[in-house]
Amino acid sequence: MTTFTVSIIGMGYVGLCTAVGFASKGNKVVTLDNNQEKVSSINNGISPFYEPGLDDLLQKSVKKGYLACISDIKKAIQQSEITFISVGTPSKTDGSIDLKQIQDSVIEVGKALKTKNGYHLIIVKSTVVPGTTDSVVKPLLEKHSNKNCGSDFGLCMNPEFLREGSAVYDTLHPDRIIIGEYDKKSGDTLETLYKNFHGQDLPPIIRTNLPNAELIKYANNAFLATKISYINTIANICEKIPGTDITTVAKAIGLDQRINPKFLRAGLGYGGSCFPKDLKALIHFSSQNSYNPLLLQSVQNVNSDQAKRVVELVKNELGDLSNKKVAILGLSFKPNTDDMREARSIPIITELLSNGATVIAFDPIAVSNAKSIFKNKISYASSVISCLKGADCCIVVTEWEEFKKIKPEDFTQNMSYPFLVDGRRIFVPEDFEHKLKFRAIGFGNSF
Ligand code: NAD
Ligand code: UGA
Repeated sequence: MTTFTVSIIGMGYVGLCTAVGFASKGNKVVTLDNNQEKVSSINNGISPFYEPGLDDLLQKSVKKGYLACISDIKKAIQQSEITFISVGTPSKTDGSIDLKQIQDSVIEVGKALKTKNGYHLIIVKSTVVPGTTDSVVKPLLEKHSNKNCGSDFGLCMNPEFLREGSAVYDTLHPDRIIIGEYDKKSGDTLETLYKNFHGQDLPPIIRTNLPNAELIKYANNAFLATKISYINTIANICEKIPGTDITTVAKAIGLDQRINPKFLRAGLGYGGSCFPKDLKALIHFSSQNSYNPLLLQSVQNVNSDQAKRVVELVKNELGDLSNKKVAILGLSFKPNTDDMREARSIPIITELLSNGATVIAFDPIAVSNAKSIFKNKISYASSVISCLKGADCCIVVTEWEEFKKIKPEDFTQNMSYPFLVDGRRIFVPEDFEHKLKFRAIGFGNSF
């Protein structure tokens, strides 16, 4: 069996989970990050961010000597045969992709390649718009290494599909692997790495060219975002029809195998570090190429309206929000993560504050990240019950498991005015609607 030593640049969710994935199967992994705090945290076996199962695997990998984080890229390139680039690709203010982290890291790799003897494979794992690997990454690598792509080094684009909150599981059990290859040798080498990694459980592998691989990633995220905005549109229609409920409608249409039940959870819309930025980047890229993707524009518009709609719903019940106290349950963009990037709590809380409301929030793990955003403009509760005390309204913003256990009495006994908005459809309406003021996304109240 051919084994490789792998180096990985950028220790965010993708880089670190890929690293512990390879290390957990006995591969030697050298990781790099330009954030020194992250480097020391990783070398101490502590993940710099919360992700279920990650600390355990990281600790084992570091202890066994399979994984180390260093700052010397030359050393990393010398010690490995394959380098993954998994740095961030955020949005610029106009929505286009910001390639600075990619360019900086690729230049470093190029310089380090210059002094390396023998073949080396570079893999772009970050999400990049079509054309980037061929027209930005390859020329920078060739220029700074003084070597030729194809003969001296290989190049692939290998998009990542993991979800935060289940990133370790997704890394170990992907639905499929996409290998965009500059040439056959590059693709063969990466396919061998994955065949060794997955053994008997090898998922389907699609081998294709570089721009297809780049577009597949955007098309995938845009489709999932479209499903969410679609079901939210139907949910908003449900709210106009007494007796209808989006959960029943979604369950029924999801049983059509052409639709499938996943990503049909209506609610406050999508957030996170990827759907919003990737939609923006794809729309911008498309527009730059003389095509206005109307469908994707609508997906975005529906999503941003969902946050505004919920505040309207609160105002319809409470009227003027000044001197009203709103309790927010859940701050992170989804459960099982402390990631606050583009969390729906941000536009909702901002809108509530601009309407004069007082906001108190509870989240099981995201409070410390949330404090850097909301600072002292809101207060932070240490439990669900202390969050509800004296509130005039409660909005469920993130569907943390522990919130599903809250009883109608917890609201009626603690709130000043028991008015609950289930923004993530975690409660059974029939258990709540006759005991307190209850509204839920996609629920056409029966009275
Ligand atoms: P992140 O922002 O969490 O982490 C990026 C890391 O790269 C940071 O630790 C940063 O310090 C480091 N970095 C930046 N420039 C560097 C350089 N020149 N040298 C060394 N380190 C450098 O990013 P992420 O969420 O892991 O996403 C990475 C890429 O993967 C993005 O393109 C993203 O769209 C894509 N992606 C993310 C997810 C996800 O769930 N987060 C899933 C699939 C794909
Ligand atoms: C998403 C994709 O699911 C991953 O495949 C992809 O790799 C990743 O983006 C990426 O490119 O970074 P992630 O953002 O971690 O993963 O989380 P999701 O589970 O997709 O949730 C995204 C948002 O959509 C959350 O705010 C969630 O609450 C919302 N959502 C999801 C819904 O509102 N309804 C649903 O049915 C599903």
